[in-house]
Amino acid sequence: NETLTIAIDGPASSGKSTVAKRIASELDLIYVDTGAMYRALTFQALESNVNIKDQKALVDLLEKTDVTFEPNEKGQSVFLNGRDITYDIRDNNVTNTVSVVAAHPEVRVLMVKRQQDMASNNGVVMDGRDIGTVVLPDADLKIFLVASVKERAERRHKENKEKGIFSDIDQLKKDIAERDYKDSTRDSSPLKQAEDAFRIDTTKLSIDDVVNEIKKLIQKI
Ligand code: C5P
Repeated sequence: NETLTIAIDGPASSGKSTVAKRIASELDLIYVDTGAMYRALTFQALESNVNIKDQKALVDLLEKTDVTFEPNEKGQSVFLNGRDITYDIRDNNVTNTVSVVAAHPEVRVLMVKRQQDMASNNGVVMDGRDIGTVVLPDADLKIFLVASVKERAERRHKENKEKGIFSDIDQLKKDIAERDYKDSTRDSSPLKQAEDAFRIDTTKLSIDDVVNEIKKLIQKI
């Protein structure tokens, strides 16, 4: 397992991180949440009043920004220059602007390099949008997770409710569809299924079902 690399891509709220965390922990691999890296930069930009449309300013900021992960009882904590931002990066402000930050090609070049470094000496499960296509084109296994917008909005709504966060299901549907649109239509490495990825529609599946399906695929490698 030491050098096994698994790429999990898919649209917003398709269950990537939940599934990736489970696979990583069961196979003793490192889990890399690349969305959290783009979210961390977005959070940093919003906090320091850097214009998210200004590619050069974002690149300068990213060069000073160190994002690290540490395991916790729920999965993983995210740190920005040593500061715990695990919860801040899930904020609506960040969620609704991260796609603008992630669309800058020079930002992506730096992010991709960091992600490839993380996978160079370790077995990893990495989730995101461009992992199978750009970051780890030679991954041992590529998964593309999809689910209907309705199902994804309902899952997010339930999650929010459990956390005591108010959300409106119709607004969630709109936000999810809009983020999918931005992520799949940008010029620089848009969200796209790799040709050799296995597509799993999770709309009618439980987390256990998806994890088991992926484990079966891993056994065949
Ligand atoms: O996966 P998550 O929803 O946390 O990702 C947040 C955003 O970061 C995505 O909507 C996308 O704009 C961007 N992203 C990306 N490439 C990745 C991972 C995330 O562009 N590999």
